[in-house]
Amino acid sequence: MRDSARATDVGGLMNSTPWPVVDHSFLAALQQRRPTPFPHGLSGDPRLSLESIARLGDELGAGSISAEQAQKPLVSADAGAGTTLEVVAVSDQIRALAANDSWFTLLNIEQSETYRDLVDQVLEGMAAGAGLDPRTMKRRMGFVFASSPGSVTAAHFDIEHSFLLQLEGHRRLGFGRFSSTEDREREVHRYWNGSFGRLDTLPEQTLELELGPGQGAYIPPYTPHWIANGDATSLSLTVTFFNRDNADESMVQAFNERLRRRGLSPRTYGEAPVRDRAKVTFMRAYGAAKRRVKGPETSASH
Ligand SMILES: [Fe+2]
Repeated sequence: MRDSARATDVGGLMNSTPWPVVDHSFLAALQQRRPTPFPHGLSGDPRLSLESIARLGDELGAGSISAEQAQKPLVSADAGAGTTLEVVAVSDQIRALAANDSWFTLLNIEQSETYRDLVDQVLEGMAAGAGLDPRTMKRRMGFVFASSPGSVTAAHFDIEHSFLLQLEGHRRLGFGRFSSTEDREREVHRYWNGSFGRLDTLPEQTLELELGPGQGAYIPPYTPHWIANGDATSLSLTVTFFNRDNADESMVQAFNERLRRRGLSPRTYGEAPVRDRAKVTFMRAYGAAKRRVKGPETSASH
């Protein structure tokens, strides 16, 4: 009885709420880092029309825009260095996306108050559906991706919990897994030394999702994935956050990299939980002293 009532509610929300529509079963997916598709109602929102995105690009300024050529191989170990585009007049370049073979990221849109509110709305709406305490979602960030037909996002992993909301256009999102613990460790080490999570080989595919307007996916931290656009311009929003799970893991990794630079061979996160907790405690204190832990802010690439 309760279940059918809830299902009706969810169905009714699908076209009217901008956030991912998830129920309490999503909590397990979050804890187990399991890729999960969801519907959302953000397509058609005036805050994310092509024109609004173009204007937001101007408001944020060149320092918050990343631009690349659209057509790239699915594996690109040089972190995109060979395909960088010059940002001249970002709003005009975004308006011309249908024909100019470009791929734009608007970084940290939460710098703008309107879009900070949007990031909170999306994450807190998702949290309410999942039964998740919104206070556990820290370092909330938002990214808008605007790309030409045929664009490719090379295989990579992120350290954040990410929610990709497709707004316009169709894309195929592939997920993979690391071939071994050693392979994962090698890629994590490369992440903290400038790879931004870009993989140098395409992992075995474990899942593929077709995403169109109104569809989205939860992309767990440390999970390889890649994206290929269809034959139309793609607009999407990604919102990210850290909770204790990935914040602790990333802090231990950052700590371990410091030890490696001193010639030591630290234990991998998860192998020695008591030691992990000591490292996290140290890094939290260090981070408070230095205001934040040094490391890549985000790979922000979908
Ligand atoms: Fe990503």
